[in-house]
Amino acid sequence: MPRKSLLDLYQMKAKGEKIAWLTSYDYPTAQFGQAAGLDMILVGDSLGMCVYGYNGTVPVTMEQCLNHTEAVRRGAPDVYVVGDMPFLSYQTSDSDAVLNAGLFLKRADVDAVKLEGGVRIVDRIKAISDAGITVCGHIGLTPQSSGQLGGHKAQGRTADAAKLTLDDAVAVEEAGARLLLVEAIPPEVTEIIHKTLTIPVLSIGGGLPCDGQLLIVSDMIGQFQAFTPKFVKKYANVAEVITKAISDYVKEVKSGKFPKEEHTYKMLPGEEEKFKKLLGLKAGSKKK
Ligand code: KIV
Repeated sequence: MPRKSLLDLYQMKAKGEKIAWLTSYDYPTAQFGQAAGLDMILVGDSLGMCVYGYNGTVPVTMEQCLNHTEAVRRGAPDVYVVGDMPFLSYQTSDSDAVLNAGLFLKRADVDAVKLEGGVRIVDRIKAISDAGITVCGHIGLTPQSSGQLGGHKAQGRTADAAKLTLDDAVAVEEAGARLLLVEAIPPEVTEIIHKTLTIPVLSIGGGLPCDGQLLIVSDMIGQFQAFTPKFVKKYANVAEVITKAISDYVKEVKSGKFPKEEHTYKMLPGEEEKFKKLLGLKAGSKKK
């Protein structure tokens, strides 16, 4: 199957076919995602919390994002992969933004890069787009600046805040972004944004009225334990499965139940005799 392209995503939008998007941070999960029919994968800087155990996304580095994105691309060669630009990889200047966005293409062969912010980030979106790189905007709750937002809180819940969120959406499209992610905003606001913009609008915690949905894989498979946002639906509880498997292993190692004969290797025919001879032992006897 050929790799999903931006054109495919636009055709899905035109047909009203919903786009299924999930984060992934490693090779095996990316393989599972491709096999399960994902249209898009985000190698989110949420890896800071989900993989590295940081309190938030701010400590995440370009090198970490690139390494994980490379692994995901190897696992999902046919999926539309979006690299997530970490904090300070684009805020500092247009040239830093273009250089770091370009590294995602050069090293990890991504299809697009995502950066957080609306009106205040339009110069960066324009600079990256002008360099020929596809940009996915990200507005509403923007975790890298959650300190300014008073924490990981839903956005656009008052009329004035909703208008600012819409202004951000319009600015991001006008600056050249070809995709937009809205996070943690009321569905009524998502709907207006979706009706106003021409580019595909995807949501994480923005409700149904848009072109597709994103979730964080570690949340939806029940792997990330620290907290669960309201917008998450848990489709599995792998933490329980993994913990049970490890605890069974610990018990069996301690009781000598593992390994059994079927988990061991046999010597090649006749080699045990030769080995014993080599050690000066009689067949069947053990060396003291
Ligand atoms: O890093 C990430 O996974 C994200 C989502 C929270 C949208 O940016």
